[in-house]
Amino acid sequence: MELIKEDVKLRRLKLEDQTAATALANNKNVSKNLRDRMPSPYTLQDAIEWIEFCKDQSPIYNFAIEYEGGYVGTISLDREEDVYRHTAEIGYWIGEPHWGKGIVAKAVTLITDYGFGHLNLTRIHTGIYEYNEASMRVLEKCGYKFEGIFEKNVYKDGAFYNEHRYSKIK
Ligand SMILES: CC(C)(COP(=O)(O)OP(=O)(O)OC[C@H]1O[C@@H](n2cnc3c(N)ncnc32)[C@H](O)[C@@H]1OP(=O)(O)O)[C@@H](O)C(=O)NCCC(=O)NCCS
Repeated sequence: MELIKEDVKLRRLKLEDQTAATALANNKNVSKNLRDRMPSPYTLQDAIEWIEFCKDQSPIYNFAIEYEGGYVGTISLDREEDVYRHTAEIGYWIGEPHWGKGIVAKAVTLITDYGFGHLNLTRIHTGIYEYNEASMRVLEKCGYKFEGIFEKNVYKDGAFYNEHRYSKIK
């Protein structure tokens, strides 16, 4: 399964991505925006374990993002359970050298269409930490709606932050 929009491709993760994934993920400017379950510092072993977990998924929930043919990051849908089973949380990151080229906006468009079209999702949402304006802008560019602020919902790196909630409905 490959999803393509111009110079951006989403594809299954493979073990050959481990070196690039480690080099790009082991960066505080990336990890400070993500959940604590993404290790920091990020080691080659972290990348291997994570790729092993993802690489044979069916259907695929975690994609590699390729830009002009090279691995630059990851985008995922984390499906919820029980009465929330038609909802997923979207999550994404790319390496700092690749920021500001419109890559993630294309990746979000691709995975959102895939989630609604192939995974039988009705709602895709996430929460963005108050200091991450670039990520808010990405979701706004992709037609996600700002739903409000969960005050002090995030405890990250020793401090509390507001969380800005965004969603898109099928
Ligand atoms: C946030 C992130 C995903 C953005 O990816 P990207 O490919 O650089 O995003 P795009 O180029 O598609 O769009 C970024 C938009 O934000 C804008 N932007 C960038 N920095 C900004 C800032 N400090 N304040 C406001 N807007 C900003 C850009 O101008 C662009 O908008 P435009 O197209 O209208 O000009 C990327 O920087 C990243 O991976 N960061 C680390 C991990 C992360 O934050 N993940 C998301 C967690 S919710």
